[in-house]
Amino acid sequence: MREWSSFDTISKGKGIWLIDAKGNKIIDAVGSMWCNVWGHSNPQLIKAITKQSKQIQHSSLFNLTNEPVERLAKNLIKISPGMNKVFYSDNGSSAMEIAIKMALQYWKNIGDTKKTQIATIENGYHGDTFGAMSVGYVPEFFGKFKKQLFSTIQFPVPNEYRLPKGFSLSDYQNHCLEKIEKRFSKNNDIAAFIMESGAQMAGGVIIYPKGFQKKISELCKKYNILFVLDEIATGFGRLGSMVQYQDQKSIPDIVAYGKMLTGGYLTMAATLANKKIYDSFSGDFNDWKHLFHGHTYTGNPIAAAVANENLQMYEKHNLIKKVQKTSKIFENYSQEILGIDIVGDVRHKGMLMGIELVSNKKNKTPIRTKKSINKVFFEEGKKQGIYLRTLGNIVMLVPPLSIQENELELLIKKTIKTIQVAKSKTF
Ligand SMILES: Cc1ncc(COP(=O)(O)O)c(C=O)c1O
Repeated sequence: MREWSSFDTISKGKGIWLIDAKGNKIIDAVGSMWCNVWGHSNPQLIKAITKQSKQIQHSSLFNLTNEPVERLAKNLIKISPGMNKVFYSDNGSSAMEIAIKMALQYWKNIGDTKKTQIATIENGYHGDTFGAMSVGYVPEFFGKFKKQLFSTIQFPVPNEYRLPKGFSLSDYQNHCLEKIEKRFSKNNDIAAFIMESGAQMAGGVIIYPKGFQKKISELCKKYNILFVLDEIATGFGRLGSMVQYQDQKSIPDIVAYGKMLTGGYLTMAATLANKKIYDSFSGDFNDWKHLFHGHTYTGNPIAAAVANENLQMYEKHNLIKKVQKTSKIFENYSQEILGIDIVGDVRHKGMLMGIELVSNKKNKTPIRTKKSINKVFFEEGKKQGIYLRTLGNIVMLVPPLSIQENELELLIKKTIKTIQVAKSKTF
């Protein structure tokens, strides 16, 4: 994209601040793509990395194991009700590829050859690899590859701000769920239902109405369909709970974690499965039931060591309670933000806020700018001292989870100013 011909060089970070090579400071409002927990340059996390790198920097998980990954698996199982085993990878897209492969192969392993379809909800996002693009099909992102993607069965998602005419939220939620049940009951061909847990992030901060996810999990049980959750962006406190599926009362068969797993310090993801799934993969060698999947850096001990330290710090600092308290600040500013004439809707949950920009509040027409909206808000945000990234017409605030109340207030005030200034660049 020509408008991004040069980039600022970030050379340091401290807490919520990113510092560029010229010494300018900006607040990291996207938490380094939604993965930062403790801010930048946290001494404890750095110590965990340094300590482990002096022991063993990397050792393969092919035929071997290492102490930090074993410990991390135990820690992850402890916080994940219903889960039994952990499969490591090094990014969220891969964790979702693994989840898809596990779900499809499960049925083959138990001798059911009919269940080959994957069901999802529209507008979901699960990563940029081909399987992840297929199940998280966002037309604007992936339209160019449509022919190469495998088809999925997609169902609508209730978005309170953009309900079809004549529907209340609860009517539309029921309508969506009825559609799901109708299709589930028609053919016995669906292997798994895959969705983001709690909210759609890249799809525009669509926070599910109460009971939506729970009901889908119940329908999956009723119709013998695997329930697969993506908690890569929404787990680990982002929505105000350690494990979002617990909050949603919807225990999955398979769940994927990533992003905040290492506090945002190293690249690691994990796909967890329940005992039923795991057992289907264990047979004699010649049964060929095992999962053919592995990456060079799967189970990297340094990443696992920092993830263990990160998890310990969640407990030590009671982080989830703190997020719940700090995030109340978002509520205090909701009305003020909504009062800006190009803001159509404000949605927030936990340490996440989405501000939907429109050119016409009544018609809810998404705003347009001469340059990309992302570029306009990035530039204006930088002038105000924040690193902002929009997704479509949504300004997203996804700061480090441990952000202090006064810091969050500062970030919101700077965001308000940015939107007001950027207004003149819209048409
Ligand atoms: C819900 C969700 N799933 C999967 C991914 C992919 O993760 P990664 O970027 O680590 O491949 C993302 C990334 O934003 C995400 O938001």
